[in-house]
This record gives sequence, C-alpha cells and structure tokens, in this order.
Amino acid sequence: MMTKILMVCLGNICRSPLAEGILKYKLPKENYIVDSAGTANYHTNKQPDSRSIAVAKTHGLNISNQKARQFTVNDFDVFDFIYVMDQTNYQNVIKLARNDADRNKVEMLLNVVYPNKNFEVPDPYYGGEQGFENVYQMLDEACNIIAEKLQ
Ligand code: 4NP
Repeated sequence: MMTKILMVCLGNICRSPLAEGILKYKLPKENYIVDSAGTANYHTNKQPDSRSIAVAKTHGLNISNQKARQFTVNDFDVFDFIYVMDQTNYQNVIKLARNDADRNKVEMLLNVVYPNKNFEVPDPYYGGEQGFENVYQMLDEACNIIAEKLQ
C-alpha cells in the first residue's frame, strides 16, 4: 500500500519543494509518494527558486526537476497527510476542506517536532541565502521524525 504525503506552502517554489525533496530521500519509493503544492497559483509550472535548488544541492539533493502547482480540493482525496508550513497556508487549505476527514489530514509541519506549538517555517523568499539554509534545517528535522514515525 502507498502512503501519500503532500507538503504545502504559498508559492510552491521555496519551502515545500525542499520539504518534498528531503522527505522523498528519507522514504522508500516503493511505499511512499511525496509531492508538494502551493496555495497560490503565481508560480504554476515554474521550477523551484534557484536558492532552494542551491541549498538542496549543498545537501546532496536535486530538486530542479520539480514544477510548481496549486493545491486543489482533489488533494484531500489523494493524500493521507497534508503538512503546511505556516498559519496562512493552514487557513488557505482548511478553507477548501469539505468535512472533518479533510480537516484531519492537515497539520502544521513543525508540530511533528514541537507538538501543538504551531511554529511556522518562515517564508525565505524575500530574505538571503542563510534563510534557505535555516529553512532546510527545520525541514530536515521535521522530515526525520515523519520518516521514523511512518516506518
Ligand atoms: P514559498 O515562498 O511559499 O515557500 O514557495 C514564496 C514564494 C513566492 C512568493 C511568496 C512565498 N511570492 O509572493 O511570489
């Protein structure tokens, strides 16, 4: 059986593509599908931000083949777990939920590390490269816990 996990941010070019690349690397392909999406559509079909591609590369991951897409209500039917980066993403996704089953799939990603704290993975888009490394470290820690729990 396949377990399906979706990482969600705003643009699907900075945070969630990194989260997708990191978690994919930690889980066996035979049993897990990891994808990412953005709640906005500004960057549809674009590859990840060059700074996310670069920071992934320094950690041995190639995320350059990803393409941005917008989150849709259909994702509630496809995915088992939907992890969002911040409160705005959370609100945007929850607005589309049709029922409790949909809502129960949605979790703030850093709650896997710091339960119930609702800490955010900060949007690095307008900052410098250090922000992307900082985001990488947060995502890596969360993805380690997700991968351990799932397996
Ligand atoms: P992301 O970062 O949500 O981590 O992909 C952003 C990328 C682009 C924009 C905002 C956030 N933007 O406003 O274009």
